[in-house]
Amino acid sequence: MTVHTKNLNIAEIVQHDIAHHFHPFTDHKSFHAAGGPRVMTQADGIWIWDANGNKLLDGMSGLWCVNVGYGRKELAEAAYKQLLDLPYYNTFFKTTTVPATELATKISSVMPKRFKHIFFTNSGSESNDTIVRFVRHYWKLKGKPYRQHFIARTRGYHGSTMVAANLGGMQGMHEQVGTEFPGFHHVQQPHWYDFGGDKSPEDFGLDAAAEVEKKILEVGPENVAAFIGEPIQGAGGVIIPPTTYWPEVQRICRKYGVLIISDEVICGFGRTGNWWGFETLGFEPDIVPMAKGLSSGYLPIGAVAFADHLVKDFFELGGEFYHGMTYAGHPAACAVALKNIEILQDEKLVERAREIGPYFGQALASLRDHPIVGETRSVGLIAAIELSNDKKKRGRFKDSGRVGAMCRDHSFKNGLIMRACWDTMVLAPPFVITKKEIDELVRLARLALDATYADVKGEVVKA
Ligand SMILES: Cc1ncc(COP(=O)(O)O)c(C=O)c1O
Repeated sequence: MTVHTKNLNIAEIVQHDIAHHFHPFTDHKSFHAAGGPRVMTQADGIWIWDANGNKLLDGMSGLWCVNVGYGRKELAEAAYKQLLDLPYYNTFFKTTTVPATELATKISSVMPKRFKHIFFTNSGSESNDTIVRFVRHYWKLKGKPYRQHFIARTRGYHGSTMVAANLGGMQGMHEQVGTEFPGFHHVQQPHWYDFGGDKSPEDFGLDAAAEVEKKILEVGPENVAAFIGEPIQGAGGVIIPPTTYWPEVQRICRKYGVLIISDEVICGFGRTGNWWGFETLGFEPDIVPMAKGLSSGYLPIGAVAFADHLVKDFFELGGEFYHGMTYAGHPAACAVALKNIEILQDEKLVERAREIGPYFGQALASLRDHPIVGETRSVGLIAAIELSNDKKKRGRFKDSGRVGAMCRDHSFKNGLIMRACWDTMVLAPPFVITKKEIDELVRLARLALDATYADVKGEVVKA
């Protein structure tokens, strides 16, 4: 493809960026010390180019979202056409637009039958804010106003608005908020690698689920509104729970009448090889927030699917729901998301993620012989590589996140975008990745691991 960077004054863009652009999730001091941003300019398939013409394999689909790959003309055309027909109208006060209605219908058609109603938002964070608003009101309507508490997991990620940050279990975020909101509780994540010790993954999965029951009993079952979890924790380090975990969590939640929320912002729309992560992990949620893969990131949009049994009472008893965002259900975003789901269906990309998943997993497993790789794991097209200073003991390097950041930087330099979640390297490539491209991804990952090993050799215990 032609790379259109000739007329760009990159130095000036970088300068303007440092002067005026306040970046999210960025350590600004080190950002400035490093000379500012890498400027991304173009992309195609699984490849992305920066303004200096460097070609990178995007092993992260942007931020776990560009599932159908870059360069999809059909999506650009869907937005263009809709912007000409009707660039904006809202869905408040008994109005709708054709794309919003059609998208709600389409999402419902790729979900289990009980999910017939879809509420639109602009992001995953807003989807999770919406859920807290809905659930708290719902329990009041049901005559149980004390059911206001949410249980989530440590290192769960549910977004960055105030409520979503409280739902999530990221300690750093909680500390910056100052104090956690009341009514949000966190239990240990089902991460066998770090916490499983000598137990089998299956036994550990049951123990991790038992933590949920313990917390319900501590808070008081009558006070617990809902349990929220990502089927596979993404930003927490692609934590794939043992097979015993989710069915047991479901059994416990049902026992105490606690609603189950499956945060499908990453796992939804095929990432794990099924349309929904809850299908892969074996449980049946009541509420499903989604975003990212809904539009493959081409335009911002999120949504929440609610099961019929909740909606029925909510509609009958609830009066006006005092909640909504100006741009929620934006017609252009809906038109793009609709087309995106059609692409997933027409090109059988969910099936593709399922079929190519084992090849991806095996290719990554070839890295297990590396001196600093403690484990590789994957489901469908989401994966993790654990960095370890002591493979036998599943040991961790000192100063969590330090070696992961080194590996990420080496990886970027070598032409592969891998993300570091502390010292876990994570991957989630677009579904269009080929076997040959997977081989190239693994070759580049090994180069990054080699370069990292060269930096930390002295800290590594010989296997
Ligand atoms: C599981 C999960 N939920 C919610 C969010 C928040 O989504 P957004 O960044 O669109 O607000 C994310 C974002 O990474 C996520 O991974």
